[in-house]
Amino acid sequence: MTAVQIRPQRVSDARKFLEILLHPKFIYFPAKPKSVEQEKEFLRLNAEKRRKRVEFNFSVIMGGRLVGGIGIKVDQQRRYIGEIGYFIDHSCWGKGLATAAVRLAERYAFSQLKLKRLEIVTHIRNIASQKVAEKCRYRKEGIQRGKILHNGKYVDAVLFAKTR
Ligand SMILES: CC(C)(COP(=O)(O)OP(=O)(O)OC[C@H]1O[C@@H](n2cnc3c(N)ncnc32)[C@H](O)[C@@H]1OP(=O)(O)O)[C@@H](O)C(=O)NCCC(=O)NCCS
Repeated sequence: MTAVQIRPQRVSDARKFLEILLHPKFIYFPAKPKSVEQEKEFLRLNAEKRRKRVEFNFSVIMGGRLVGGIGIKVDQQRRYIGEIGYFIDHSCWGKGLATAAVRLAERYAFSQLKLKRLEIVTHIRNIASQKVAEKCRYRKEGIQRGKILHNGKYVDAVLFAKTR
């Protein structure tokens, strides 16, 4: 398999992200952009979020092709904790891309950002995402009831974490 890379997101990634995120197979991803313009606005804010150490968002690249996104959101109360979130183009699912991207983001989070704890929070029925967390050796810590707002309902989440 071609090596997976991550790089900071660019405003020019907007159209592809929209295409990936609005695909009907994308059930569990909470943040669905409404237009290319809205997605561009989100991407423009990335620089400021990095500067303020709030969020570090990357594009996932394979063979020069944009195939997904991954981000580290820093807890603003406990700034040594981060949450990793990710998505991959449906046409590339099941090839280990999310797993590879999590490993890269994790390395950045622990060694560059010096975070001490990384969390992955998945919708309770999002088995693929839970598999990714398990394959990357995140420990399942439990069920967080009503944690995720999904399609207007508060649903349970599975919390995974890794500490350094
Ligand atoms: C979750 C997601 C990122 C996984 O991406 P991916 O590149 O396919 O992930 P990987 O290939 O690294 O690993 C997925 C694993 O789940 C498995 N899997 C997928 N669907 C499954 C299912 N319904 N039941 C059991 N296992 C399943 C795959 O077989 C694979 O495991 P394997 O390597 O042991 O075969 C992708 O499905 C996605 O983008 N979903 C929508 C967004 C999302 O849910 N993001 C996560 C928010 S926490």
